[in-house]
Order: sequence, then structure tokens, then C-alpha cells
Amino acid sequence: MEFILDTADVQEIKNLNELLTVAGVTTNPTIITKSGKDFQTTVKEIIEVLDEEQTFFIQAISATCEEIVEEAKYIDSLREKNIYVKIPVTHEGLKAIKECKKLGIGVLATAIYTADQAFMAAMNGADYLAPYVNRMENYGDGIKEVKDLIEMLRVNGLNSKVVAASFKNKKQVHELIVAGIQAVTVPVDVAYAMINHPGTEIAVGEFTENWNKAFGRRALV
Ligand code: E4P
Repeated sequence: MEFILDTADVQEIKNLNELLTVAGVTTNPTIITKSGKDFQTTVKEIIEVLDEEQTFFIQAISATCEEIVEEAKYIDSLREKNIYVKIPVTHEGLKAIKECKKLGIGVLATAIYTADQAFMAAMNGADYLAPYVNRMENYGDGIKEVKDLIEMLRVNGLNSKVVAASFKNKKQVHELIVAGIQAVTVPVDVAYAMINHPGTEIAVGEFTENWNKAFGRRALV
């Protein structure tokens, strides 16, 4: 499974890249604006902290197919490999996904609220499909919808990877990992929630204190 970070916070990307096995970084227009830096600076800094095998996802902004494809070409030129253009599954976006795939550009279909939307984007050749799990919960059972999607792709032999997105808590991520999701993109707070537990610190503190009482040191030898 690909564990991807949903952030443009370069320091947090560096920190979590040391701690975890990070497959890549996703951004969207809102995430980029939250970085507090301009688009080009943010993109350059993220590319610098990623190794070339890690994936990087940048979203197109324009509304028409033609404009989206132009932006996709620009995004694609920003890195030699493992760069993907995020394209929302609007009507123009669906057209643009087909065009981008003809040009050999990597595509992540985004702003997905239903399994059917994702399935259609997969038929158009999208490499990744990003259902917005938490936002989907406002309309029904987001987790079930994503599980359906995984099954729809499997029985139809479609190779697009589901990269579940828009997580607000670790339970949502956990349920989809159990379901065999191919990838998740998680915000920084959810990534930390997945690895932190107060019990771990307490246990380590006890071990160290018992060692120190017995041997007068807080190291093995
Ligand atoms: C990632 O690809 C999506 O853009 C992101 O997860 C959306 O998250 P949000 O629902 O918090 O905006």
C-alpha cells in the first residue's frame, strides 16, 4: 500500500519522511495556499525533499478541457518522473483525463464523491482515483462507497489505483487499509495520530527507570 502525505508543509514532509515509509505527496489548490508561499516556491521545495522514486501530485486549476491539458503539460514538465496531474472529475475534467492519457501524462482523478464517478475516470485511463472519504460521509457511507469502488475495479480488471483522500481521523484510514486499499493520502495530524500512543511513552519510561534503578544508567551498557 502507498502511504502518501496530503500536505505542502515542507518541514512536516521532511519529518514524516524520516519516521515513515512515505510513497509521495499530494497537494491541492487549498493545501498550496496554506503553505504561505507562492506556488513555484512550494513546488520547488517539495521536489527537493522528495527522492525521485516518491510520487508528487499537483492539481490543475483551469475549467475547460483545453486549459486543463495545457496546465497538465506544464505540471508534467516540473519533474522528470513520478509527477501526476490531479484533475477534478467535472465534464471538462473527464475529457481532459482522456487527452492527458493520450499524451502519456500521469493523472489522478480527484474531487470524487461516488464510486461511479471514480469508475468512469478509471475507464478514461486515470492512474489514480481519489475519493474524498470524509466529504462523502455527508452524503452517505463514504467507507462503503470506497469499498465498492475497490471491488468494481477488481471485477472489471481495471488497473487504476484508489488513493483514498480527505481523511479526518485514523479510524477512516484504518478501515480502508483493512479493506485492501491501494493507497491513502493523509494529512499530517492523521499520520501522527496513527503512530502516537501515550501507552508507548509510559512503557518506555518504565523500562528505562527500572534499568536505571538496577544498573545506574539509562543505556544498555
Ligand atoms: C487530496 O488529494 C485531496 O485534495 C484532499 O485529501 C482533500 O481533503 P479535504 O476534504 O480536507 O479538502
